[in-house]
Amino acid sequence: MSQRAGNRSLSLGAFVHETGQHVAAWRHPDAYAESGQNFSHCVEVARTAERGKFDLLFLADSSAVGMMGTAESRGRMGKVVKFEPMTMLAALAAVTTHLGLVATSTTTYNEPYTLARQFASLDQISGGRAGWNLVTSNNEAEAFNFSRDQHTAHADRYDRAVEFADVVTGLWDSWEDDAFLRDRESGLYFDADKIHALNHKGKYFSVRGPLNVPRSPQGRPVLVQAGASSTGRELAAKTAEVVFTAQTTYEQAHEFYTDVMNRLPRYGRTPDEVRIMPGLYPVVGRTMAEAQEKFDYLQSLIQPSVGLSVLAHTIGVPNLDQYPLDGPVPEMPATNGPLSRQILMLEAARRDNLTLWELCLLNAGPRGHLLTIGTPEHIVDIMEHWFRNEAADGFNVMPAWLPGSLDDFVELVVPELQRRSLFRTEYEGTTLRDHLGLPFPTHPARRTQNAASAAE
Ligand SMILES: Cc1cc2nc3c(=O)[nH]c(=O)nc-3n(C[C@H](O)[C@H](O)[C@H](O)COP(=O)(O)O)c2cc1C
Repeated sequence: MSQRAGNRSLSLGAFVHETGQHVAAWRHPDAYAESGQNFSHCVEVARTAERGKFDLLFLADSSAVGMMGTAESRGRMGKVVKFEPMTMLAALAAVTTHLGLVATSTTTYNEPYTLARQFASLDQISGGRAGWNLVTSNNEAEAFNFSRDQHTAHADRYDRAVEFADVVTGLWDSWEDDAFLRDRESGLYFDADKIHALNHKGKYFSVRGPLNVPRSPQGRPVLVQAGASSTGRELAAKTAEVVFTAQTTYEQAHEFYTDVMNRLPRYGRTPDEVRIMPGLYPVVGRTMAEAQEKFDYLQSLIQPSVGLSVLAHTIGVPNLDQYPLDGPVPEMPATNGPLSRQILMLEAARRDNLTLWELCLLNAGPRGHLLTIGTPEHIVDIMEHWFRNEAADGFNVMPAWLPGSLDDFVELVVPELQRRSLFRTEYEGTTLRDHLGLPFPTHPARRTQNAASAAE
């Protein structure tokens, strides 16, 4: 059993897409089909996650409408419009009190100063509940919205991401925690010794700083990272406090977990500073039969052209309609987009001898994440096994459709986790770091002072 799991509570993120994770979610009769355009639905979902004592709400993102699918599927895709995540989370901060708020933001088509400022502001607005999910963009179409004519190459994206993350974290340390005096008597608003310009000059960025937002209530917003190739894992080991990953089997997840943890010492880091949270796609029923029925029903709503188009997005290969649906999954060209996911899905197809359509069906809901169908006890058995045996520190729960699948999880699975003392019954702290049990990052100036006084 993992030493790390010990007495700790596992972590839960609510990973919510507009209408749900499943490609046909919007066709479910009880789903909020217009969720990507209706803020009150988002409020309801966030409050449900908070009622379930989730650590965080997690928003994926892409700054482009996915156009990789077939022409026939275009008007049939449910997840094409959504709110910009920072705007939405700032609004949700005002109607929630404890829930962590994590937004995805790419290092490929942003500037670090803007991004550092946005997340530092969200952290202030929410009282220390912000997290940044660092990605390098899996949607190649983003390039066309940012004055480029092609997507930046995988290796170059990561090269830029490493420097980007350094600049952002450096800017978040612009002010020491107690820099602001606001002393009317002396007339001193802040202590000028406690502001630090960054003066960064690197390969991609030249940023002087300091940031015009004070240090965050939790030191720095929590840094989440999603990217699973070897380069992605290295970036995770260097920077991430939470690693979001897609794994289909315990063996894969355990390999990923140990590999990332083993890379930490190179950066002077320890496992206590990192939480690994794979995606979990749960289909919950009071009986196995009920859960299976729920799963089958959503699968029956998949339109062939949509299933194929969403697979094209997941594995980053266009024009899948040139292959027969009932034939074996053909050899595919490597993608410059979601490379690790492509490898994962194609491995699953080869391992289980799937036809192209069977791969579409497998992809339609979990999209390469852990699929569990069954009673709360059955689902918690799997979660507990992963948690206690170094495959996960928690899970990003991916409700198939909203609001129903999140309601099911909160009403049925959370109580079972609590009954086994695997999950909190109340929030004990107020910040996202508190929930995740992550250390407060000491300001670099304070670290230097502490080291100096220890040497005296
Ligand atoms: C679990 C997971 C979630 C991701 N979520 C997003 C996302 O929301 N938006 C995005 O642009 N890229 C996302 N990415 C893409 C990565 O940042 C990266 O560009 C892509 O996966 C290729 O890198 P890799 O081969 O190291 O995984 C995600 C990747 C993973 C593994």
